[in-house]
Order: sequence, then structure tokens, then C-alpha cells
Amino acid sequence: MNQFQKYLAKRAIVVQNALSKNIKQIKNAPQIIIDAMSYSLNAGGKRVRPILLMAAAEAFGLKNTDVLPAACAVEMLHTYSLIHDDLPAMDNDDLRRGKPTNHKVFGEDLSLLAGDALLTYAFQTALKNGANKSVGYERAAKAAYALSYYGGVSGMIGGQVADVYAEGILEGKSKRASKLTATKYFKGKTPQYFLLPSEAKDVSAQSLLSYIHKNKTGALITAAVEMGAILAGAEQKDLKLIGKYAAAIGFAFQVVDDILDVTASKKQLGKSNSDAQNKKLTFVTLYGLEESKKAALKALKDANAALDALKTAKKDKLKPLYDMAQFIVSRSY
Ligand code: IPE
Ligand code: IPE
Ligand code: MG
Ligand code: MG
Ligand code: MG
Repeated sequence: MNQFQKYLAKRAIVVQNALSKNIKQIKNAPQIIIDAMSYSLNAGGKRVRPILLMAAAEAFGLKNTDVLPAACAVEMLHTYSLIHDDLPAMDNDDLRRGKPTNHKVFGEDLSLLAGDALLTYAFQTALKNGANKSVGYERAAKAAYALSYYGGVSGMIGGQVADVYAEGILEGKSKRASKLTATKYFKGKTPQYFLLPSEAKDVSAQSLLSYIHKNKTGALITAAVEMGAILAGAEQKDLKLIGKYAAAIGFAFQVVDDILDVTASKKQLGKSNSDAQNKKLTFVTLYGLEESKKAALKALKDANAALDALKTAKKDKLKPLYDMAQFIVSRSY
């Protein structure tokens, strides 16, 4: 293991221990829902988002242990998004984090509820971070606001909506959109028109794909990084720059996810590679493998440039953020 791999492994353990502690604090709930939440939460995962949150907080002067509740919150929200993403009504997958998907074990009803429970408990946990003296309730509330913004309709949910409705769009037969074509929603309009935000001017497949990637995946990674910086009280200018870094690596994260879906095995990924079967609009289907790799490398450059420009961050604490960006584009799992 190299230095960075050791760092990742150590941090993943820190996150796992904190998650277990937070789940133990749940009061007055049926054991079965706690089991369903823990099943997916404890199944592993790279813990990229909480590790990024801690690294961003450290870059602006906090200790990683100061922001553990917020780090857990973002991982809880992410895990909920995976549980719902795998449901038969969404991507219909049967393997996640090396184990049968949540609904395969607990049934669709409980997996919907486990997702709901992780989503709400994420905010309870994020707000708890206010009790830490070096953070305080005002910054904790601001960080929770960022999580709700990026995790919601203006972020991840918007991206997921566009993702599922864009299925089949390149073949000219979107399964879901066609159900609505006859209704007032799609009459006389291209489906893309309804999938992009109302202020968008361009409704091409390219702009739709970029919207999907920035939002379904980029948004929550942005939330993680910005939350860390907010909790540490970073100044506005640097918040903007670290947000640029986050948006770039978040976008690259999904481009690489699309690449791995066709180049890596189910075993290697610990999840089903179902993009082709679902006729997903992905970087690979729209631009091909080579262009996709180039797009990820271009995003890495943008991310590094944003870090280089930071003013008040502790320069000796930035290495993990550079390393995480590199890891995100070069990972094989
Ligand atoms: C998978 O995320 C879903 C995407 C947003 C691409 P990760 O690749 O971070 O999944 P885990 O957390 O490591 O399982
Ligand atoms: C999922 O994108 C993004 C989420 C918000 C969960 P994908 O559908 O590509 O993620 P995987 O490949 O199932 O992990
Ligand atoms: Mg999906
Ligand atoms: Mg999926
Ligand atoms: Mg995928």
C-alpha cells in the first residue's frame, strides 16, 4: 500500500466507526429499519464523500474529528441515494457494495423506508455537529443547508430525474418519456426540454448529459467539500474556489463511473453494471471511451487549478485534496 492508499484505508475506518456510533444513538425505532439502514451503510463503499469533507475541513484549520457528524451525514444521504437508485423502479440492480441490494434482502417497502430514514437521519446528524465548540450551531446549520440544497431538486434529485427519463433517448425511444408523450407534458416538445432546468437554453443531448452528471453525482460531492469548508469557517472567495474544485471532481467521478460500467467487472466494482441494459445516456454512449477519459483528465486539471488558487487554506494540508482528485480519475473500482 502506498501512502495515499493507507490514508484512504485509515479514514474509511474512522468513518465506519463514527457511522456505527451514530446508528447506535437512534432511539425509539423498530429494529428491522435499523437493520435495513445498517445493512447498506456497513457494506463498505469507498467513503469518498466523508473523506473529502474531512479533508476540506482540515485544509481550513479544523481537525478531522471536529466534523465527524457532518461526514457521517453526507455518507448517510449518499447511501440512501444508492438504495433508491437500485430499486426496480429506477436502475433495477441486484448487487451493491459487494452484497445483494437492499430491496433484495429487505423487500421494496423496507428499502424505500430505509432510504427515507437515512435521508432524515442525515440531517439530524449534520445538525448535531453544532455541539462541537470549534464548529458551533451557526456553521452546522449552514452546512446542513448546503446538504439540503445539493442533495435536493436543485442538485442530486434533479440529476436523477433527468437520468431516468433520458434512458433510451439516444435510440429515440425513451421508455419513460414516451409514457408522457401523449400528455400535456411532452406534447410538441422534445423530452430534453422538460429534463433541464427551466432557465436552460440548450436542449441538446450533450447539455442534458452534462446536467445529469453535474447533478446526480457532482452535486453531492460538492456538498461534501463545501460543508467541510463551511464548518471550518472558510472565507467566501475560497469557498467559491473549493466549490469549483468539488464540481470538477464530482463531474469527473461520474464520467469515470460510466467508463468503469463498461470496462470493469461486476466483481471488481461490487455492483451491477447495467447502463447498457438500461439504455442510459452516459459519457461512453455519447462520446466513446477515449473522449470520456479525456474529459475526466480535463476536469482533473480544472480541479487542481482551483486548489492552486486558494488563498487562506493551509498549504501543508492540501495534499489529500490533490490526491483525492487524482484517485477519482484514475480509480479502477
Ligand atoms: C456510486 O458512488 C454512485 C455514484 C454517484 C456514481 P460511489 O462509487 O462513491 O459508491 P460507494 O460509496 O463507493 O459504494
Ligand atoms: C447514481 O448514478 C447516482 C446516484 C445519485 C445514486 P448511477 O446509477 O450511475 O450509480 P451506480 O452506477 O448505480 O452506482
Ligand atoms: Mg442511476
Ligand atoms: Mg445505478
Ligand atoms: Mg453508474
